[in-house]
Amino acid sequence: MEYSITLHVNGEERIVTVRPADTLLYTLRKLGLTGAKPGCLNGDCGACTVNVDGWPMKSCLMLGVEAIGKKVTTIEGLKNSPIQQAFVENFAFQCGYCTPGFIMNCQALIEQHPDADDQTIREWLESNICRCTSYIEIEKAVKSVLQRKE
Ligand code: FES
Ligand code: FES
Repeated sequence: MEYSITLHVNGEERIVTVRPADTLLYTLRKLGLTGAKPGCLNGDCGACTVNVDGWPMKSCLMLGVEAIGKKVTTIEGLKNSPIQQAFVENFAFQCGYCTPGFIMNCQALIEQHPDADDQTIREWLESNICRCTSYIEIEKAVKSVLQRKE
């Protein structure tokens, strides 16, 4: 059975048809929002990270119907954001597959912990895995937005 639901995504009301078991990741992709990436699909890699009501959420672990009434932001909603620019300036990616998830997680860190110290940054980023670039550049990108210099 499928249901028509309305989700609040990137500042817009979007109507989408879902089955009860559809993940938020799958639901967003049905809306054409393919920035959140399917990786492990079991909560380990963070490639699917989006923001739900201000907090990073692995969208493979949440159902689409659970997002009803919540504010969802995807990487498409962070166009030209300082953290996205900082990733470019600090060469904080190689293949880029993990990058949308990292950027979403970093943006939440910046909002929730604007005074984050090195330890907080490292622990926060532990929920995302990058298989091909250095975490040092990713940390540098976050710090540059937090206006902290090494
Ligand atoms: S795809 Fe969701 S955590 Fe890996
Ligand atoms: S840049 Fe390739 S997995 Fe992170």
